[in-house]
Amino acid sequence: MAEHRKYLVAGNWKMNISSSDVGRLISEINAKIANITKVDVLVCPPFTSIQAAKDAIGSIGNISLGAQNFYPEKNGPYTGEVSAIMLRELGVSYVIIGHSERRIYFNEDDDFINRKVRFALGSSLIPILCIGETIEQRRDGKEFAIIQSQLKNGLKNITVQEVEKLTIAYEPVWAIGTGETATPKTAQEMHAFIRSFLKEMFNAETANAVKILYGGSMKSDNAEELLKEDDIDGGLIGGASLKATSFCEIIEIANLLSA
Ligand code: PGA
Repeated sequence: MAEHRKYLVAGNWKMNISSSDVGRLISEINAKIANITKVDVLVCPPFTSIQAAKDAIGSIGNISLGAQNFYPEKNGPYTGEVSAIMLRELGVSYVIIGHSERRIYFNEDDDFINRKVRFALGSSLIPILCIGETIEQRRDGKEFAIIQSQLKNGLKNITVQEVEKLTIAYEPVWAIGTGETATPKTAQEMHAFIRSFLKEMFNAETANAVKILYGGSMKSDNAEELLKEDDIDGGLIGGASLKATSFCEIIEIANLLSA
């Protein structure tokens, strides 16, 4: 196997882990990954737990902080929203954009997602751009067309220099929180397609540098097979990231595969 891009294992805590629970979870994770050096680890708590997560990581932790959302304006009359600058102030370096839950429940479309990607890049936040097809789209044989259009629109007006800073997460909607994972072959096929489309949009070097994470019911018992695939560079983990044991088992697998 060719040498992998450095794995990124990211926990998307969604609307879980309140500020009173975050300290314990982070210290458990910290303790378990003390010897992990070859994997980038990220947690994305809800807004109200970010400060507590930052305190728990302190200066000893080797965990990066991400947010699950933000609003793409500097500041202003956007009741209920949080800006990129506010997140940067809390030590946040990544932000999840285009997650299917936000597309579905909050009507975020490709144009808005593109605005967020561009704003995040301009604010020195690393976007994790999520793309994925529904089960109906896959049944209709439209999965590649859907992924291509989400990528094309999501990355509109983004420069080569910018795209190198970005991370992509392929998250088939039918695999999120369902316990049903894409097979390594199905996932690899789509990851390779994403990379070849990035090559077409940008260039080979850039396409090769961009990390493409897999998300959708990744857990310790399927992580190895998925992460072994050439174009799978890590995971965006929901359910299994809520417990230190299951999250860290995936991190350890990625670390072993990097040895
Ligand atoms: P899951 O969620 O691991 O619980 O399927 C993944 C995600 O939504 O990012």
